[in-house]
Amino acid sequence: MVQIKFSTLKDMDIENKKVLVRVDYNVPIKNGMVEDDTRLKATIPTINYLLEKKCKIILMSHLGRPQKLLKKGKAFEEIKKELTLKPVAEDLSDILGISVGFVSDCIDVEIPQDNDVLLLENLRLHKEEESNNEEFAKKLSKNGQIFINDAFGNCHRNHASVSAITKFMPSCAGFLVEKEINHLSKLLNPERPFVSIVAGAKADKIGALKVLAQKADKILIGGVLANTFLKAKGNDIGSSKFDEETFSFAEEIINTAGKKLIFPIDTVIADKFDNNADTKIANTTKIEKEWISLDIGPETIKLYKEELKEAKTVLWAGPLGVFEMEKFSKGTKDIGEFLTTLDAEVIAGGGDTAAAVQHLNLGNKISHVSTGGGASLEFIEKDGKLPALVALEKAYERDDK
Ligand code: 3PG
Repeated sequence: MVQIKFSTLKDMDIENKKVLVRVDYNVPIKNGMVEDDTRLKATIPTINYLLEKKCKIILMSHLGRPQKLLKKGKAFEEIKKELTLKPVAEDLSDILGISVGFVSDCIDVEIPQDNDVLLLENLRLHKEEESNNEEFAKKLSKNGQIFINDAFGNCHRNHASVSAITKFMPSCAGFLVEKEINHLSKLLNPERPFVSIVAGAKADKIGALKVLAQKADKILIGGVLANTFLKAKGNDIGSSKFDEETFSFAEEIINTAGKKLIFPIDTVIADKFDNNADTKIANTTKIEKEWISLDIGPETIKLYKEELKEAKTVLWAGPLGVFEMEKFSKGTKDIGEFLTTLDAEVIAGGGDTAAAVQHLNLGNKISHVSTGGGASLEFIEKDGKLPALVALEKAYERDDK
């Protein structure tokens, strides 16, 4: 277990209290509808427990990155419409079977009396959230008597609603945060062999790769990361997507990880990013001009299964291809299904991996599917000491005195 001490829900005297619960409802929304409510469902044990204890529950979350859009010149009113949490409140009402009220801001608001569960508007519409502003945190704290952090997916961010807020209220971790820590801690002292799959469309995994280069026995690379590393090794990746930032670190990671790093040897390439594209299998040493790599090939699937078969611990971070399109889903499907046959602790992390696990119906066959993307990788990188958990620890030390 990670050596970090904080209060948990069951340590708190919460009966009949007004509780302020930070959740991570940063979920995909399309045409005003929540597309994937995994993160909502993951907080239900905490919400139900609080309902049993007759609490008034004020939920708060971020959604998207409004400040980035503002910087790009988008009008605030437009961003507010696009990144409102209102549809989330509606989805949560359906899940809970009770009406969840929605409050149109997160500070300086009257909390309505009529609902037991309320959701405040997107925290990140205020720039002070991301700067961990104490005044803003203090205003947030006025919404409740006790703070509960159940937003594991946001624990790697040193933001006001998970960090500074703990200075102003008795604070504890919710059931989801506790559960995530219990599982992810197994990656800090893993049973060996420890094999990690690092793939996906997002390439923001440099920090985790540096740590895995030390900790894991093997690292199987896929997705945009594979393109990036293969390009750095001098392979011709055609018109495949790669990540500039990771590219500049690739050599360093290749040098540290050495033979632990395993790259795709063949790939499914396409003439366009479309399920109706023309496709063929290519060797990863040379991809034709204007073709793009969208999945691992059959030889790579065989190779990766071979590398995984003796594993006792597996971290699966990122799908191996564009699994959302049938033509490029085989790598993710075959490897995902193979993982369920292993006698190993298998932990899947990241929004896209969770979506792939759900798409393939593997959820209950995998030891743990983390609701955190960046948070689960940074958990390993920082040896469990994520900023929001450290803040809970400080609150624990203060309140324990
Ligand atoms: C996530 O989706 O990983 C979390 O909600 C954090 O979001 P962020 O990467 O925009 O901080």
